[in-house]
Amino acid sequence: MTAAKIDGKALAQKVRGELAEKVAEMKAKNGRVPGLAVVLVGEDPASQVYVRMKGKACDEAGFKSVIDRMPESTTTEELLAKVEAYNNDETINGILVQLPLPDQIDEKKVLYAIKPEKDVDGFHPVSVGLLNIGETKGFAPCTPAGVMEMFKEYNIDVEGKNAVVIGRSNIVGKPMAALLTRANATVTICHSRTKDIASICRDADIIVAAIGKAKFVTADMVKEGAVVIDVGMNRVDEKLMGDVDYEAAAEKASYITPVPGGVGPMTIAMLLANTYRAFEQSL
Ligand code: GUN
Repeated sequence: MTAAKIDGKALAQKVRGELAEKVAEMKAKNGRVPGLAVVLVGEDPASQVYVRMKGKACDEAGFKSVIDRMPESTTTEELLAKVEAYNNDETINGILVQLPLPDQIDEKKVLYAIKPEKDVDGFHPVSVGLLNIGETKGFAPCTPAGVMEMFKEYNIDVEGKNAVVIGRSNIVGKPMAALLTRANATVTICHSRTKDIASICRDADIIVAAIGKAKFVTADMVKEGAVVIDVGMNRVDEKLMGDVDYEAAAEKASYITPVPGGVGPMTIAMLLANTYRAFEQSL
């Protein structure tokens, strides 16, 4: 089988276009637009790029966008004060503190200070809890939410399927497993201590690779006709590379996501979607 490519770039554009239309309608009706505050502490080069892309996406969709840059030397207390100010700002519906944060900052304390109603990253324990008890009113983290949106767009039914998630991070692996479980898949989470990941993958109808190792998923791990989702963003010799050996895996999969142009663009689209929902729920 040769896989169909899942075009995350096109789907992200579609989602963003639909949101832009809804924002324009809302603005005409009641003069209000969704607002997203992105807080960036320090000078991490990758974070600077991501934050700029998030701001641009907001602008294009007609959202209010605030990008708040704080110095590398920022203290936990200073960042908490900033979060508190956005918690109380009625024009801001979503708050995102870009990770990673400098070492001196207590990351948990900061993420837990964001009002769950504005937690468009879905990292607050209330958001995590709501997702895990199957409630839909909280916010799911943007990257795994983007993967679910891809399944929907391509009519990939996950119900009853064997889904293997490789990686157990709080940002991707764990919420991905929770979303798949909520959608009635049978989910296995593999991680660095798992014995024989390859044989577990060979049983999978769906593989989501989020382990952060270039070409970790090889063709021999992919069952004929499986759906392969690559969340990897590995820099190898200045080139962006996924967690999947794309060319070889595509020979066996039914659907596969490329890197770049797959899951990546969906993350920002879902950030806007979460912010729009926070806005609607605030009205
Ligand atoms: N750093 C890498 N991915 C993310 C994300 O989804 N949200 C935030 N806040 N920081 C990140």
